[in-house]
Amino acid sequence: MEELKRIAAHHSTTFLSDGMLIGLGTGSTVRYAIDKISKLVTAGLDIVAVPTSIETEHRARAAGIPLAELNDRPIDITIDGADQVDPKLNLIKGGGGALLREKMVALASERVIIIVDKMKMVDHFSYALPVEVVPFGWKHTAKMIKKLDLNPCIRQNVITDNKNFILDCTYETLDDVEDLQVSLNNIPGVVENGLFINLVSEVVVGTPSGPKTIRSN
Ligand code: 5RP
Repeated sequence: MEELKRIAAHHSTTFLSDGMLIGLGTGSTVRYAIDKISKLVTAGLDIVAVPTSIETEHRARAAGIPLAELNDRPIDITIDGADQVDPKLNLIKGGGGALLREKMVALASERVIIIVDKMKMVDHFSYALPVEVVPFGWKHTAKMIKKLDLNPCIRQNVITDNKNFILDCTYETLDDVEDLQVSLNNIPGVVENGLFINLVSEVVVGTPSGPKTIRSN
């Protein structure tokens, strides 16, 4: 599995070129991209990266990648992982708890490249949907989320980079994800949810025979 992550991550870096502002996602797959970008920067690649988490910030800084904060300058390309990808290239993200900054960076990006191993490509979502909520009244927020046919469960001992909690929501099926993401974000107390709908440009899948790139229509 690690090798498939590495294959996808390394291939995604071939899309980078001098002068780009890039978004750097979070997670074990992105770590392979950071290692590769570090080598490219050492070899002369001139890019600046916006990290999507404190973990990525520390790792990228240690790897010698120049960093910037998210501001009003558009990001050329973001490279990020995902927990699951459906046939429309919609995503569930947030397994690493960085979904809010990841979604903000994705929305600010002209091109979003998702890197996954092939096991994450699914016909129907099944991964528990992470929802970031403010700590104040989170049990009440969880009750509201239950009304959307989700079963929220607090992620133990986790505080996000934004000082919030994560509720991991299991379900029988996730049918109308477009509506669901709006309904979730309409609940006071919900900060953001891990559904990434129509945000992806390409998914690079690591397979035993090499990287496979799937483009959104
Ligand atoms: C973090 C994320 C990650 O991209 C997602 O959890 C995948 O992580 P990994 O590459 O470790 O499987 O959304 O919030």
